[in-house]
Amino acid sequence: MCGIIGRAGDGDALASLLTGLKNLEYRGYDSAGVAVRNRDGIDVCKREGETDVLDAAVAERNLTGDSGIGHTRWSTHGAPSDANAHPHTDEDGRVAVVHNGIIRNYESLRRELREDGHRFTSETDSEVVPHLVARELDAGATPEAAFRTAVDRLEGSYALAMVVEDDDAIYATRHGSPLVLGVGDDGNYLASDVPAFLEFTDRVIYLEEDDLAVLDEEGYRLTTRGGETVERAVETVDWTAGDAQKGVYTHFMRKEIDEQPASLRQTLEGRSEGPEAVLEGFPPGSLSEVSDVVFVACGTSYHAAMYGSTLLRRRGIPATAMRANEFAHDPMPVSDRTLVIAVTQSGETADTLASLRVANGSPARTLAVTNVVGSSAAREANDAMFIRAGPEIGVAATKTFSSQVASLALLADRLYADGAGIGADAGVRMPATSMAEGSSTTDGGTEAGTIRSLPEDVETVVNDGGASRLAKQYADADSYFFIGRGVGYPVALEGALKFKEITYEHAEGFAAGELKHGPLALVTPSTVIVAVFTGRDDERTLHNVREAQTRGAPIIGVGPESATEIREAVDEYLPFPDTDPELAGILANVHLQLLAYHAAEIRDRAIDKPRNLAKSVTVE
Ligand code: F6R
Repeated sequence: MCGIIGRAGDGDALASLLTGLKNLEYRGYDSAGVAVRNRDGIDVCKREGETDVLDAAVAERNLTGDSGIGHTRWSTHGAPSDANAHPHTDEDGRVAVVHNGIIRNYESLRRELREDGHRFTSETDSEVVPHLVARELDAGATPEAAFRTAVDRLEGSYALAMVVEDDDAIYATRHGSPLVLGVGDDGNYLASDVPAFLEFTDRVIYLEEDDLAVLDEEGYRLTTRGGETVERAVETVDWTAGDAQKGVYTHFMRKEIDEQPASLRQTLEGRSEGPEAVLEGFPPGSLSEVSDVVFVACGTSYHAAMYGSTLLRRRGIPATAMRANEFAHDPMPVSDRTLVIAVTQSGETADTLASLRVANGSPARTLAVTNVVGSSAAREANDAMFIRAGPEIGVAATKTFSSQVASLALLADRLYADGAGIGADAGVRMPATSMAEGSSTTDGGTEAGTIRSLPEDVETVVNDGGASRLAKQYADADSYFFIGRGVGYPVALEGALKFKEITYEHAEGFAAGELKHGPLALVTPSTVIVAVFTGRDDERTLHNVREAQTRGAPIIGVGPESATEIREAVDEYLPFPDTDPELAGILANVHLQLLAYHAAEIRDRAIDKPRNLAKSVTVE
């Protein structure tokens, strides 16, 4: 959600800034702009539209620059337009600023600045910053002092970078929005996210909240907001530039779907070799005090969290998943034995961080399950578990969902092995259910070793061409309903989210048993029902399928290879290798990712950059 880039050092900065913006486009693609410092002072070039439009404008103007800042925007305040694009400047163009986040008190600041004679040219909250800085410069402050004073006036969340005329430094700070520093051999970088500068350096400093960075030709300097010098560790990331590039693929989404066997291998490496899950940072017994688990997450990560909570409940551990944007304002009661798990790929989702902060202020213990080392969630939670999926650039989350669920399955096994839960002594029992034969109410874990075959099984699904054929066959449907039960339910929700997000078609996910409680009224022969089967309690889902079938709806089943009865009952079938029902949802989901992908391809949608969306939603 809005991407910031900055570069100071030897040579021309412009090419690196434009590359950085292209690499950051997944964070926003409404407009893009750069401000570079050169012989003429500060030159700003910004355009509505994707970075290609900016590239053309920069080329036309023969722009050059020794250092500079850039921005790619996802609009919050003010529609996409040249005027609302960043960088923003003061009236004289002496100060140029890029901003990611939301300045909550911008209206009162604008009023105050207007009374002082400042005139604004955009509708954005961000434009107040260069004006605040300019006012301080006019009063005789140095650029650094002016920046500090201006930032002290801001309320809300922000990552900011600034250049000032006749000064060769870039000034930057963060508060509630991410900013990382890249340490290169011939220049240093600032960016919202590591992939922005991965082809220039893999050495990074994750700035702490309220750090202030000054970058110039000589190097970089870090201080606290109060001005005290601070040292921050330089870390080497294990992502490569190739990981964050499309290569031979047309879309990142397809590349990331295909990467799942490899990303799952990374997720599982060293963690699932023996009979018990081995999790770094969580030795046996370290989770024995946990009585109950509350997950907080958004979007796809919420679906992974739902999946995880089902796995825990099946192990007799009370667990629930809440949407982070709800928990933050209406939290679940917790105790000092509650584990609150924030599931977030980016580790920067504002809603999830808000929930994490609420939990951190409670007696509960907190854990971030995330893909990004050094992310805010990883740093703010009491503990972190990394899903190790590698960088995900496509806005639609794919490989990270699989790695999140696999990580949560391992965590569920660890919690169970540690004896987490309230326990029979306290009178807590799994209620008896009337499940189909072959299912048990309390599972001690996924069948030993099955998780190790997950990458190979996913590979089989990735290589199956079925979804592509069905996407074409059912391209004219009015609606697409996804249904499932148990772990198949979050997968149905995820299948529908992916489908609507990139095809813009009407798609909904339901608990299979819920169809008859209302949604069935919408089912016609033009409603495609995609039913997820996992090998557990499938008989019931088949009943629900028949309820829709009687209304003429075509049925696509997604289920285990050997499920002949289901295969015969449905119109089309996308099979996956037989596996433990607890893991079957991951395999089914890969078929659903492919179905959405091909359906979007047929419709010629902007698959990696769906309209109105951006990755890493850093505003609440
Ligand atoms: C959908 C998608 C989003 C994210 C959600 C949370 O494909 O990617 O729904 O899952 O915005 O993001 P993270 O996991 O970064 O917290």
